[in-house]
Amino acid sequence: MGITWDAQLSVGFREIDEQHQEIFRRVDVLVGNLRRGQSKEELEKLLSFLGDYVQQHFGAEEGLMLMFHYPLIGPHRAQHRSFVEVFVELRGRLDREGASEAVTEKLASFLLAWLREHIGTADRALGSFLAESGVTERLAPAAVR
Ligand SMILES: [Fe+2]
Ligand SMILES: [Fe+2]
Repeated sequence: MGITWDAQLSVGFREIDEQHQEIFRRVDVLVGNLRRGQSKEELEKLLSFLGDYVQQHFGAEEGLMLMFHYPLIGPHRAQHRSFVEVFVELRGRLDREGASEAVTEKLASFLLAWLREHIGTADRALGSFLAESGVTERLAPAAVR
């Protein structure tokens, strides 16, 4: 199962696309390490790193939604929140059970499926709204780095 960002996932807004690419890079590293059976400490570090970055990314998107009065902010935010809930739950399982194949594969497939689904629908809708509203990249809040 490849974990790469491709142009089909573009939402048409550079700052968001760049953050998505970074998320895919981090997920790819994490999943590679999970499958190689890396130590729990290393996995924890990667999970924190990914979790923090994703939270910042959600914050950046939600900042744009607020700034430009995006009408679908409620359901979009709810999707972000539910990602965080599942992510936290799977991190807890990994912590309790160790990186068993069951947990590892569940985490990998959740990350990939959720990202593709969310980016392809909710984030793309946001990108279209921003484009239709004439929002330029320069007006966006500072990018997450
Ligand atoms: Fe996103
Ligand atoms: Fe989003």
